[in-house]
Amino acid sequence: MAEAGSFADKVKQQADIVRVVGEYVRLKKSGQNFTGLCPFHSEKSPSFAVHPVKQIYHCFGCGVGGDVFQFVMEMEKCGFPEAVRTVAEKCGIAVPAPRERSPEERKENQQRAQLVEMHREAQAFFVKCLEGTAEGKAARAYLEDRGLDKEAMARFGLGYAPSGGDVLLRHLKQRYPDKLLLESGLISRDQSGRLFDRFRRRVIFPIANEAGKIVAFGGRALGDDMPKYLNSPETPIYSKSNVLYHMDRAKEALRRQDFAVLVEGYMDAIAVARAGVSNVVASCGTSLAEAQIKLLGRFTKRVVVNYDPDTAGQAATERSLALLLEQDFEVRVLALPPIGDKKADPDLFIREKGAKAYLQQLKEAPPYVDYLIARARQMDLSSGEGKLRAVNYLMPYLQKIPNKLLRSEWATRISQQLRVDEPVLRESLRKAAAERRSEVKAKPELVGRPARPVERRLIRMLAEAEEFRVVLAQQLQESQLYLGLETEKIIAALILANLSGEPVQVTELTGMLEERERRLLFEILFEGPMEATWAEAESCLEALRKRQMERELAELQRQIEASAPGPQMRALLERKQTLMRQMLPPPAPAERPQ
Ligand code: UTP
Ligand code: MN
Repeated sequence: MAEAGSFADKVKQQADIVRVVGEYVRLKKSGQNFTGLCPFHSEKSPSFAVHPVKQIYHCFGCGVGGDVFQFVMEMEKCGFPEAVRTVAEKCGIAVPAPRERSPEERKENQQRAQLVEMHREAQAFFVKCLEGTAEGKAARAYLEDRGLDKEAMARFGLGYAPSGGDVLLRHLKQRYPDKLLLESGLISRDQSGRLFDRFRRRVIFPIANEAGKIVAFGGRALGDDMPKYLNSPETPIYSKSNVLYHMDRAKEALRRQDFAVLVEGYMDAIAVARAGVSNVVASCGTSLAEAQIKLLGRFTKRVVVNYDPDTAGQAATERSLALLLEQDFEVRVLALPPIGDKKADPDLFIREKGAKAYLQQLKEAPPYVDYLIARARQMDLSSGEGKLRAVNYLMPYLQKIPNKLLRSEWATRISQQLRVDEPVLRESLRKAAAERRSEVKAKPELVGRPARPVERRLIRMLAEAEEFRVVLAQQLQESQLYLGLETEKIIAALILANLSGEPVQVTELTGMLEERERRLLFEILFEGPMEATWAEAESCLEALRKRQMERELAELQRQIEASAPGPQMRALLERKQTLMRQMLPPPAPAERPQ
């Protein structure tokens, strides 16, 4: 990642990972390393370690690990360039000015900046209208009636767009040209060419992007005006499918709690956040877009879908479910019970039943398969055809369960609950699986069989033994002794790095490794101090040689047992003899006659 000689490389060489990590995690010296509580999963005893010499971190609990940039990228959920900038700033390294952009690019950037500024001004204006005008008073009453006090209005930046028709326009037009006003979506033009406010007589919900900048608004009609909600159109700074309402405020909690509550509407998000669940985001509108899921996925892969229990909400739940499962999310579904005969969205439920009741519901929200089975059971199951319909409804979701064992358990449950013949169900599951385009990727498994001590020692020496690591790499390369080992790929990457003539940078190797292998490598590098001598290296090579011979011997034995007497078998037996001689310990030196 950090190319030699690049700015990133310079930062990496000057930065001290212990200091940077230390800003986020309380670290304690422990042997050669520093340890602390892992910021990426919740734990009570520290399994997170930082290696000051190698400048890497690794968590023995959840397996995360990398260099200082990866740490910041994970922590701040930002991209590589931003991580480099952050680290540079933390370490007092001057950041070079960004490269000159093309004139168009510069113009677009400037326009976006102006639009953001305009939204900030509009927001302040809407807030003033809510607080200080006669019309605003009615809007306040409306919001109060819906359970929002002054503090909540301020917390979520709610405002009011008056009914005049050009109130905002008059406020903005001195500072912005018409063209920009129209680009912002805040101002529209009628057929006669006259400009007017898009939002009129509506309660305003500011919509911020991930970075907390207001980029759009949602406007709720006070009465029964249509549409109920009017939103900003797509603009250079706002694309509906890229933004989740309340994301900017949810980030911290998403990371800490490692799950999200997904709701439909502005009012739902506000109610849930006020109930103390800050890790809530709203898709705003019924269907969740893939980009929104990707955005969320950068913070957590677990979500509780809490959509409205009406037909539209149920359909949206099922559509979102499919998308979330495709993106490897672990999904639970909260379908709130009706209140009296009213279907309850989160907002109504919390208002009627209170925060505590909601939290309880949230805690008990079942995995998505339970929700789906319950839905299927509402179908008419009295006929074979009805059952088939119910099974067909469930099948696409069932297939998406990545784990085979779990899938099988669910198949049993479904057959019991829907009273369908289990073998029949399994058969259709198998068929569906065969037709499935691509298997849902399973999570990278945890480090498998521990690598043998010999392999571990060799890896350490290849990474650390400055006096002979290159020679060792050459010998391994020539002898090919590492092929077939559990750690083959790790050793291969280290050989390559050693033969490149550069110092070995472990984090540069990880591009060549699978996640599983990277973890194993980091684990090995964090093992305690090791004495590295050439004699030790040779004995490791010897051990590998012996192992290779053993394997060959076993293979020979297998062939011998399978072949008939004849010249071929004789050749095999001869080879076996040679091998066995080689494997004997070297004879003790004969005593010299006196
Ligand atoms: P709902 O109609 O469920 O809204 O739509 P709600 O939040 O319960 O509204 P209240 O409680 O009556 O005020 C859910 C979300 O769908 C979007 C909005 O983001 C809304 O919050 N929506 C709804 C629109 O964009 N336009 C509409 O006309 C209706
Ligand atoms: Mn609703």
